[in-house]
Amino acid sequence: MRGGGWFLVAAVSLVFPPLRCQNRSREETRTEFPRSAAAEADFCSFREKFHRNYELNTEEFNRRHLYFQDAIKRAAYLNSFPAAPHSAKYGINQFSDLSLNEFRDLYLRASADKAPPYSGEKREGLPAKFDWRDEGVLAPVQNQQACGSCWAFSVVEAIQAAHARAGSPLEQLSVQQVLDCSFRNQGCSGGSTVWALSWLNQTRVKLVPQSEYPYKAKTGICHFFSQSHGGVALKDFAAHDFSGQEEAMMGQLVSCGPLAVTVDAISWQDYLGGIIQHHCSSQHANHAILLIGYDTTGDIPYWILQNTWGTKWGNEGYAYVKIGGNICGKYDPCWFIYMYF
Ligand SMILES: *[C@@H]1O[C@H](CO)[C@@H](O)[C@H](O)[C@H]1NC(C)=O
Ligand SMILES: *[C@@H]1O[C@H](CO)[C@@H](O)[C@H](O)[C@H]1NC(C)=O
Repeated sequence: MRGGGWFLVAAVSLVFPPLRCQNRSREETRTEFPRSAAAEADFCSFREKFHRNYELNTEEFNRRHLYFQDAIKRAAYLNSFPAAPHSAKYGINQFSDLSLNEFRDLYLRASADKAPPYSGEKREGLPAKFDWRDEGVLAPVQNQQACGSCWAFSVVEAIQAAHARAGSPLEQLSVQQVLDCSFRNQGCSGGSTVWALSWLNQTRVKLVPQSEYPYKAKTGICHFFSQSHGGVALKDFAAHDFSGQEEAMMGQLVSCGPLAVTVDAISWQDYLGGIIQHHCSSQHANHAILLIGYDTTGDIPYWILQNTWGTKWGNEGYAYVKIGGNICGKYDPCWFIYMYF
């Protein structure tokens, strides 16, 4: 079973009796892997907390247990770097029983596109901290589930924020529509934010409300709507490489609104919260996300990113990444939209 498997299991978990950790250890020690009692208890509480009901002593159980042990080792390595008090912490989260490949296949499905370096002016007089959550233009943290749709989420979230900034009431727009209809992209198997934007810009497709075209975490058949159907269409956009120009990116964030950015999120499988300062190391961007703010008032200045992995991940669904040093390599499109009603 590939990565989708555990989600299916989670979805049917209610038909199983609830897991009881305390008294499982005797059964579990019959499995072929020698394990310490502590590691045993950890894996058990993990399964209980995240509702994993794979059966004891099956191939899947043993495999997930090995991935879980790998996650503990990775977290120990990531936590071994000298760290300031607000630095990122790594450990057990909902992704700890996925192999690295499964995590990549499911969650890191944004392709990195080439974009021209940003060449605009730096904005003077930026506030020391800024957060679009204070401006009422953001929907709550979403969960893409077992579908590589980050690229569609970041584009749609940026457009709905731009729409709200233009004076309309905040309305969630359909991510599923972009997943199903954006033809150069591959739905749940991944895509590019720039291609999705180019498609929206070329076709002037109107994004309908999420309530009319709900998210299914599966690629489906594109639904068409008549020209007279209400929705939000893109008028134009810009995409830039902001490598080495983080101050200019701050200016764009404040002037343009939340930005769809692509980052290297390889170490985010084990992230528990705090400010990420190292380990964006795979050298290419693989995850699309929404950049919503920054804070330069503390010891470590950081970006605030709204992720789509649910509120149990990171800082209640948000990632903090150190500003300076171009830690995760971002570029951004800046948004200009046009609305039809
Ligand atoms: C676990 O087993 C012990 C003794 O074997 C028993 O006293 C205890 O109530 C059990 N706990 C649970 C949660 O079933
Ligand atoms: C968006 O579409 C308009 C109108 O066709 C075009 O002029 C513009 O160059 C497009 N923008 C991008 C970034 O492709």
